[in-house]
Amino acid sequence: MKVLVTGGAGFIGSHISDGLIDEGYEVIVVDDLSAGKEDNIHEKANFYKLDIQSSSLEDVFRKEQPDFVNHQAAQKDVRVSVSDPIYDAKINILGTINLLQNCMKYKVKKIVFASTGGAMYGEQETFPATETHPVRPISPYGITKLVAEHYMHYYKTLYGLDYVSLRYSNVYGPRQDPFGEAGVVAIFVQKLLNGEQPIINGDGKQTRDFVYVEDVVKANILAIKNNVSDCIFNIGTGNEISINQVFNDLREIINTSIDKKHGPPNQGEQQRSVIECSKAKKILCWEPKILLIDGLKKTCRFFHENRQ
Ligand SMILES: NC(=O)c1ccc[n+]([C@@H]2O[C@H](COP(=O)([O-])OP(=O)(O)OC[C@H]3O[C@@H](n4cnc5c(N)ncnc54)[C@H](O)[C@@H]3O)[C@@H](O)[C@H]2O)c1
Repeated sequence: MKVLVTGGAGFIGSHISDGLIDEGYEVIVVDDLSAGKEDNIHEKANFYKLDIQSSSLEDVFRKEQPDFVNHQAAQKDVRVSVSDPIYDAKINILGTINLLQNCMKYKVKKIVFASTGGAMYGEQETFPATETHPVRPISPYGITKLVAEHYMHYYKTLYGLDYVSLRYSNVYGPRQDPFGEAGVVAIFVQKLLNGEQPIINGDGKQTRDFVYVEDVVKANILAIKNNVSDCIFNIGTGNEISINQVFNDLREIINTSIDKKHGPPNQGEQQRSVIECSKAKKILCWEPKILLIDGLKKTCRFFHENRQ
């Protein structure tokens, strides 16, 4: 079976490609390398350097005839989405529609989509948020993910294209970009290893639900394999962890004397974010296996061995 992975040169997409190849799938990667790296792409994957908005995407579908599509490519930076919502919407909405049109035309069996728990539910009313929590994205990025979910439901209804949307919480692990605006674990690890001072935005009491990338890969593979469609799943741990705790854990793992330093809070930053995953456990037979402390240790080891 052949899977076309968009964003397969990026953090999560490259791990998904590796996982699929380990499971015996043939993998095609489509990535424009705007954020991803060619080095991340598995040597057995067939790589096309291409924007998902491009009309040449059809040539890839025609030639490769993928059975499944795993859609990770996105403009993923919330702040970029705020400063340039048109750019954000072009990639995340028009790019996704271009992909869906090709899925429909070339009779792809199922598309699995990287959605978001954090940005989807906005400032939560209940903790942890289930999939039925009101969706009130407070960023153009969150809106585009919601719109993509609606489009997938539309393609399922009209053309029978099966889909699964996975609403990730905060994913962390090896290969995450330590220089971006998001990805607090990667940013802190990189700085602490280099003896630099990380800055915690605000009082650090804001919380997130950190899920290790290996667990996210498993969810994606189960979403392809299992006979499930037209379905949305939260993919997180249900554990609410403060940024201060992440800093303290990393400080201990790395064994550094660098202490916490707080900066001004980020305007409009969500205070609490945690998602409930019993639906994925029940229907997808998925649950997170990697404890935060173990995931942080693996991440530190990776960044230590790949110092930048
Ligand atoms: N990292 C997280 O915590 C998190 C949380 C929720 C959802 N997500 C979603 O998961 C997916 C993967 O995120 P990631 O953290 O691995 O990000 P990433 O930036 O590492 O990976 C995205 C990949 O998509 C590629 N890409 C971007 N625009 C493209 C385009 N127009 N055409 C082709 N390729 C393009 C980039 O080059 C990159 O390799 C994204 O859809 C993101 O929105 C991530």
